Amino acid sequence: MARDDDKRRAGRAALRFVDDNTIVGVGTGSTVAFFIEALGERRVAGAVSSSERSTKLLVELGIRVLDLNEVTDLPVYIDGADECDGKRMLIKGGGGGITREKIIAAAAKRFICIIDPAKRVDVLGAFPLPIEVIPMARAQVSRELVARGGRPVWREGFVTDNGCHILDVHDLRITDPVGMERELNQIVGIVTVGLFAQRPADLVLVGDAITL
Ligand code: 5RP
Repeated sequence: MARDDDKRRAGRAALRFVDDNTIVGVGTGSTVAFFIEALGERRVAGAVSSSERSTKLLVELGIRVLDLNEVTDLPVYIDGADECDGKRMLIKGGGGGITREKIIAAAAKRFICIIDPAKRVDVLGAFPLPIEVIPMARAQVSRELVARGGRPVWREGFVTDNGCHILDVHDLRITDPVGMERELNQIVGIVTVGLFAQRPADLVLVGDAITL
């Protein structure tokens, strides 16, 4: 499939930003799975993983997975996205790993996002915005989101690695991603908003083409 080829190219291209004997932050998703596959060619000191799924792939390759609490220097974090605008701001969380992804992105010196061309958009929001919520607050948070013009849909049956629920919020046209992220972060019961705008990616690889 052409799209998988682009994902594979992006995953492999990210390898040039990873040095031997360093620790690498690893995201989640099908594009990242290609990156992990390529990572087997490096001699990294270890990885910090954003999901159980990525941890499994890393361990299978013999790569040591570290707890972020043990790591003081994280030069780079490699992760995919569901949408990416021209300012490298992102919607993430399609795979449900939002909170760990945001924590690792915040801890890393450099966040490199790997995507296929279909993820590039002018305005974020066509992809429903994933929001991780404390289970008991799901209905309350949904009402707050409706009041802001969103249409939250509970990702029923899905429980995050942190034991939380996900609301996928449709019908948002996100013209001010930083403002929206800041505002939604204030709603009690929300754990993490899948908008990566306050801390966007530092560099985006669309296939193997670099977008600064
Ligand atoms: C997981 C994510 C992924 O990076 C995003 O869903 C993209 O996935 P894929 O590479 O499979 O298209 O944010 O929570």
